[in-house]
Amino acid sequence: MNPLNDLNSSDALNPERDLVEINRPPVSLNPEKYSGFFRPIPLWLIAISMVLFFWAGLYLAYYSGGFKANVYNAELVAWSGGGASKTAAPIDLRVIGKKVFVQNCAVCHQETGLGIAGQYPPLVGSEWALSKGWHGDNHLVKNILYGLQGPIIVKNMPYNNAMAPWNQLTDQQIAGVLTYVRSEWGNNGSPISPEFVAKIRANTPPRTEAWTMSELQAIPRELFSEATSSTTAPAK
Ligand code: HEC
Repeated sequence: MNPLNDLNSSDALNPERDLVEINRPPVSLNPEKYSGFFRPIPLWLIAISMVLFFWAGLYLAYYSGGFKANVYNAELVAWSGGGASKTAAPIDLRVIGKKVFVQNCAVCHQETGLGIAGQYPPLVGSEWALSKGWHGDNHLVKNILYGLQGPIIVKNMPYNNAMAPWNQLTDQQIAGVLTYVRSEWGNNGSPISPEFVAKIRANTPPRTEAWTMSELQAIPRELFSEATSSTTAPAK
């Protein structure tokens, strides 16, 4: 009952009654009237939620990486059919390969791939790295897996040194580093796939001695591009 509409009633002007009426909370704000499910959300909970939403938004903005799948998995191979998958794999292999090269090979063969005269042979234009002449991609993979020692010729220059085995590297790391070496510094060799490395690794009995040039020369030449040309030609 609103006291202002009720001026005629006997206690309409009773100040005590007015105070009681005015101070009575509106029904809708009286928490006692609500039970269980319909209880209003406490203000402090709304405040904490807003702070959390704000923080989550900032977190996603900084760390989501644009929600691109390859941000989380550098080795992801494109799944879409057509052109994308053909170019995506070699690009990723080169990225992996550059890292492997800088960490493991550059100390001797140098970041320029030019090596050091008389000690470490060059990879730039090397018939070994590019599988020219009697050299095959299989010899190259075997060379990386188990090392190389004794007298060799690279670009008409003699070397007589030793390279340690790298068979602790994964198929993908070896494929990566070879793909990188064969396409860097003006080299224009074809990529090498992890599957090809796995095949050569499986075909090569484990050994404790590094290869010599004559041992490798005795093994028939194989090329990755020939091994795979019947199914998928590697991107040039
Ligand atoms: C400790 C120094 C050293 C490291 C590290 C090294 N190599 Fe070698 N590499 C050599 C030497 C020395 C030879 C020549 C061996 C000989 O004289 O018989 C050689 C030969 C080669 C050859 C054949 C010859 C040529 O120049 O093309 C290739 C290819 C090659 N290394 C690639 C690599 C790759 C790839 C890595 C990294 C995974 C690597 N090497 C790491 C020292 C090294």
